[in-house]
Amino acid sequence: MAEHNNFLTVADTTDIKLGHSQSVHLDGIDILICHAEDGFFAVEDICTHSMIPLCGGKIEGNYITCPMHGAVFDLTDGSVQSPPAFEDLRTFKLKIDGTSISVNGDSLK
Ligand code: FES
Repeated sequence: MAEHNNFLTVADTTDIKLGHSQSVHLDGIDILICHAEDGFFAVEDICTHSMIPLCGGKIEGNYITCPMHGAVFDLTDGSVQSPPAFEDLRTFKLKIDGTSISVNGDSLK
């Protein structure tokens, strides 16, 4: 995992197709890198409803649906869009250099 100015390389764009996601573990936090309609987004890989991983949830447009009970979150800002979850997802800043996806280490604190 390479570090550049507080950004930590965690994944590669070529490994995550549109509508798919990849879970990475960074500083004790499970982060889901999602390839959505408007690009790549990083959210905590824990549904706020029952603390179940969101990994494997269906991504349509810029939204992810929890695979467990169907809560929907907006990946662009983590906001909850549909119950049974009521709390927003934590989000993290990421950047893309070429095909490298990096997460801002400062956003993990
Ligand atoms: S754990 Fe995600 S909706 Fe229940």
